[in-house]
Amino acid sequence: MDKKNSPKKILITGGAGFIGSHLVRRLLTQHKDYQVFNLDALTYAGNLENLKDIEEAPNYTFVKGDITDAGFVNDFFSQFNFDGVIHLAAESHVDRSISDPVSFVRTNVLGTVNLLNASLQLAKNNTGFLFYHISTDEVFGSLGQEGLFNESTAYDPNSPYSASKASSDHFVRAYGETYGLPYIISNCSNNYGPNQFPEKLIPLFINNIIKNKPLPVYGDGDYTRDWLYVKDHAEAIDLVFHKGRKGETYNIGGFNEWKNIELTHLLCRLMDIKLGRKEGTSEKLITFVKDRPGHDLRYAIDASKINKELGWKPSVTFEEGLEKTIDWYFENQEWLGHVTSGDYLEYYKKQYQTQ
Ligand code: NAD
Ligand code: DAU
Repeated sequence: MDKKNSPKKILITGGAGFIGSHLVRRLLTQHKDYQVFNLDALTYAGNLENLKDIEEAPNYTFVKGDITDAGFVNDFFSQFNFDGVIHLAAESHVDRSISDPVSFVRTNVLGTVNLLNASLQLAKNNTGFLFYHISTDEVFGSLGQEGLFNESTAYDPNSPYSASKASSDHFVRAYGETYGLPYIISNCSNNYGPNQFPEKLIPLFINNIIKNKPLPVYGDGDYTRDWLYVKDHAEAIDLVFHKGRKGETYNIGGFNEWKNIELTHLLCRLMDIKLGRKEGTSEKLITFVKDRPGHDLRYAIDASKINKELGWKPSVTFEEGLEKTIDWYFENQEWLGHVTSGDYLEYYKKQYQTQ
């Protein structure tokens, strides 16, 4: 993003979600001359309570809208004439993609193509324009016990979620090749941290331990993920957006592999300490359940390209990150209560539609 004149108008899609909300906050604090727009449909995963602290910022605008609506997207883009787009809006949960693949095609594929089409118009008149697509390491499929995903690893998605993200990545690349749209893609490993919807492993297990509910470990728990603290991902996105090379892809990861069952034991130990429970209490909640169909065995990222080219590496250790995450869920029981009861869905009406 090399346009010199400020203020720059940056659109973040999916900014009310987990990673998007951290990114909105980061851009507002790191780039005070930017006008940051957050376009989000507020699905079950979008929560404006994530952004309570910055919603009054003069250089922040929230717009409720659906990226699957091409007419709306085109009007919205021509109204605001963005200098850059960072695209995070998506259906993001693998289990939901197994029961409802079509929603994933609609949002992740069609929604992305709508944004690409609208971006072509803006790129015509602005040589500094950049479309930055946020993707996942799941597009590469599964690793065996050895090896790492790098930027040349062939795509081999196994779940409807990863197939839809792989498809969206291909469309972004194709718009670069065919129409000359300036783009960057990054593929990141599993994020964790504050504000993550408690359907994903870490927040689900924290929440269940607090409530003394079973911890459903899929299969034998012998599956490996590479965990990255969400603020480190937001920092990497900021860096790639500003310093990354157009037409390139960057892998982002935590250098932090954990088997699910080992991570579950660690969470149980940390939570027993936090709750002042006798050691071993939370372990009793572990319940092995039917495996996820098409479950990828192992993900692990080789993040040496972003490290060598842009100097990025994770700054938060897993120990620190988990401690911060657990503390956040304890200190934000109201957020958790609203999310689990569905009350958070009313926040938009109260804050934005009362006048
Ligand atoms: P999330 O589910 O928490 O948030 C997604 C956001 O997109 C929500 O605010 C939702 O309301 C919005 N959205 C969904 N459909 C929309 C639509 N049709 N129009 C407009 N907005 C819509 O997701 P997340 O975990 O923050 O992930 C964000 C992005 O990062 C996704 O593209 C995901 O594929 C990618 N990613 C996530 C992870 C991870 O570990 N969470 C890792 C790598 C990449
Ligand atoms: O790798 C990046 C991806 O990480 C992102 O692209 C996705 O948006 C994000 O949801 C995440 O996908 P996973 O499927 O890896 O995350 P999830 O938290 O659903 O599961 C992590 C691991 O834990 C996985 O091996 C499945 C397992 N699991 C998950 C849940 C929710 C369980 O054993 N029990 C559970 O209840």
